[in-house]
Amino acid sequence: MIYHMFGKITLSIIKPDAVKKGHCSSILSQIVSAGFDIIALKMTELSKNSAIRFYEEHKEKYFFESLVKFMSSGPIVSILLEKENAVKDFRILIGDTNPINAEKGTIRHRYATSLEKNAIHGSDSNQNAFKECQFFFPSREIFSKKDKNFL
Ligand code: CMP
Repeated sequence: MIYHMFGKITLSIIKPDAVKKGHCSSILSQIVSAGFDIIALKMTELSKNSAIRFYEEHKEKYFFESLVKFMSSGPIVSILLEKENAVKDFRILIGDTNPINAEKGTIRHRYATSLEKNAIHGSDSNQNAFKECQFFFPSREIFSKKDKNFL
């Protein structure tokens, strides 16, 4: 199980806009260069219902329907990342949710085109990182270098 990784993991999604534009390898390269270990990764697609489940905490927001439609509009890449202070450091790396406010050099500054089509997701708390990790990855798909079973 991944309980011992609490506080050291974050869940990221390369969103349909960035996947469609072919930005996956550049984004992954920037993530690894920043010191994150990729410990699980898959290209997948969210059904409308799974997008609703994933973004449940936003269900009362005015943008919810549009967000669900966008996130289920094409392939995504979900990634589990390991690093000390993973959640906080990753949110610095990706930049502000709204690309207009994202600092130069951040992933969203480079690849996002709007508040909705903002290229990448990063968990906003350790609790959510854990929940989101379980949403995408069963423990047999997680390979931490710090585990005995690493290849
Ligand atoms: P993310 O951090 O992945 O999680 C929730 C997403 O909702 C967020 O990225 C944005 O893509 C989207 N979002 C947040 N606020 C708004 C907004 N005001 N209008 C449209 N989409 C939003």
